[in-house]
Amino acid sequence: MNKPIALVTGGASGMGLATVERLAHDGFHVVMVDRNVSLAAQETQRLQDLGLDMVSHVLDLTDELAVRELVNRMLPISALVNNAGIFDERKFLEVTSSDFRRVYEINLISAATLTQEVVKTMKDGGRIVNIASRAYLGAKNHPHYVASKAALIGYTRASAMELAPRGILVNAIAPGLIDTPLLRALSPERMAQQLALQPTGKAGLPQDIAHAVSFLVNPQTSFITGQVLFLDGGKSLGGTGA
Ligand SMILES: NC(=O)c1ccc[n+]([C@@H]2O[C@H](COP(=O)([O-])OP(=O)(O)OC[C@H]3O[C@@H](n4cnc5c(N)ncnc54)[C@H](O)[C@@H]3O)[C@@H](O)[C@H]2O)c1
Repeated sequence: MNKPIALVTGGASGMGLATVERLAHDGFHVVMVDRNVSLAAQETQRLQDLGLDMVSHVLDLTDELAVRELVNRMLPISALVNNAGIFDERKFLEVTSSDFRRVYEINLISAATLTQEVVKTMKDGGRIVNIASRAYLGAKNHPHYVASKAALIGYTRASAMELAPRGILVNAIAPGLIDTPLLRALSPERMAQQLALQPTGKAGLPQDIAHAVSFLVNPQTSFITGQVLFLDGGKSLGGTGA
């Protein structure tokens, strides 16, 4: 196989799915990894029917052994997109230590484990993109999620320093409100509240994120590393719009 390989986690839904599709169009052989058996099968069939060069593997990214086995079976990966993540809304005083561990396990630790495995065989000049969140700046009612995404950005910066000598560039994307199944799980009241805070008055699309990933993994994007790219319709500007 001559095509470069891209691995996208959480690729069966939302922005991961849009990224799988976009990177296949860009000329990658794309490997979708997701734990959702039915969604992965359904979306793989749909994308392959469109003629896209992609396959899927169903596994839970918190299963370190399964992750190691998968990466060891694969040819070297050129682009890794750590996108899988979970969101959880809970009042500040009600978040338990096990809530923290559950969210950290997928949003941070599984991304770090996969990154370590992948970079063992990744060719020099590879690309890694971590999907964090604008919420890392601070947000109410999900301190464990906010902290996990801030930690992922710290990990992005550390990885960028470690891997720069090999020309492997590591960046993070901080999405704001993006219209995906994760977002649609919010109550209508919470959704209206969130939209009211958007300078643009609307949520972004999964394709907006896919487009930014496509830019960051492109070989021509060769001098950006350790950065956080906000895709949030201006919400991180912090103004009230008044
Ligand atoms: N939607 C938003 O507004 C928003 C905003 C900021 C950041 N994010 C982040 O973007 C990323 C993608 O979010 P989305 O909105 O597309 O979510 P989504 O729920 O639509 O998709 C996430 C996918 O990840 C998979 N996944 C979750 N845990 C997994 C695990 N342990 N092993 C394997 N697969 C797993 C799920 O099965 C799902 O298919 C997440 O990291 C999320 O935190 C989303």
